[in-house]
Amino acid sequence: MLRARIVGTGSYAPEKVVTNDELAAQLAEINVETSDEWIRTRTGIAQRHFAPEGEDASDMAAAAGRSALQMAGIEAKDLDLIVVGTVTADMPMPACAAFVQHKIGATCPAFDLSAACAGSIYALKVAEQFIRGGGAKNVLVVGVELLSRILDWHDRTTCVLFGDAAGAMVLRAESGEQGVISCRLATDGALTDILKIPGGGSKHPLNQETVDRRLGYVVMNGREVYRTAVRALSETMLTTLKESGIGIDDLHWVVPHQANIRIVDTVFERLNIPKSKAVLNIEKYGNTSSASVPVTLDEGVRDGRIREGHLVGLMAIGAGMSWGSALVRW
Ligand code: ACO
Repeated sequence: MLRARIVGTGSYAPEKVVTNDELAAQLAEINVETSDEWIRTRTGIAQRHFAPEGEDASDMAAAAGRSALQMAGIEAKDLDLIVVGTVTADMPMPACAAFVQHKIGATCPAFDLSAACAGSIYALKVAEQFIRGGGAKNVLVVGVELLSRILDWHDRTTCVLFGDAAGAMVLRAESGEQGVISCRLATDGALTDILKIPGGGSKHPLNQETVDRRLGYVVMNGREVYRTAVRALSETMLTTLKESGIGIDDLHWVVPHQANIRIVDTVFERLNIPKSKAVLNIEKYGNTSSASVPVTLDEGVRDGRIREGHLVGLMAIGAGMSWGSALVRW
């Protein structure tokens, strides 16, 4: 049986780091009050990276992609497919993936998918299905977000949470035991209202009125998102494990979406997974949405925590609400 094995990971974050104190000072200038203490205790975030003007999401995605290709030991021209999970593509059209394809020197089909913070898990599933179905041998999956450009700096309940980054994975068709064992996706479209960017699409297109009404920014009902995230992430990880006949104790590592440390803590508690098995970096990056899981995975792989033979659980949730989880044998 063909499996999709993750043979390369890569990540990229813009150079500029903004600490909570620096962000609080900048926000104070526009009379928005926040503090390092509030952000740290409510979210676990200490700093985030912000892209400078002139750097595009596709630049970040290409950097992460190149790094994953290098680890995989293949050339961009060997890719059969590129899937980019993002809600902050360079522009509504064409796809961010098309820019990425050109920038890394690939020639294969390339497309975006929109599942917000769950984008990397959705893209992983697409890649896995292509590989299992024989439609692709080498697939590049990228999660990239340049959220700093679409945050409402007057809304302290959202603007302190997010950061910019890109994470990538190269998946290759192989017949051994290593690779994606199981990957589950779920969406509850009844919850579209609790996390969204209302403007800039066809419902409220970009024009003076939608700009004046500030519809182009992320809006969120934090408490509802929190509740849904805890429930959905616990449920999806448990179901994936059950379906695969794998016990929680068999997991070596879990790479959760880095949205809020309190969400992670509660999910781990519910699932009875020791926190020592979590790969975490929310403190350094904040919530990087679809980049979050692949960036964190890359960190765990490169620092030697995630090693050959390890069982790794991945999980993420985002606007939609859409969520998913995967079990991977490294
Ligand atoms: N600085 C200081 N005070 C703040 C800030 C801030 N940045 N933001 C909100 N507050 C204030 C509120 O105004 C409120 O004040 P009040 O009591 O005087 O009205 C107080 O802090 C408490 O606000 P709550 O909304 O109750 O704070 P809560 O403890 O729920 O934390 C948070 C808010 C962190 C957003 C939380 O709800 C959360 O983490 N939700 C999950 C959302 C999330 O992770 N979203 C990421 C995107 S989606 C995803 O990736 C899954």
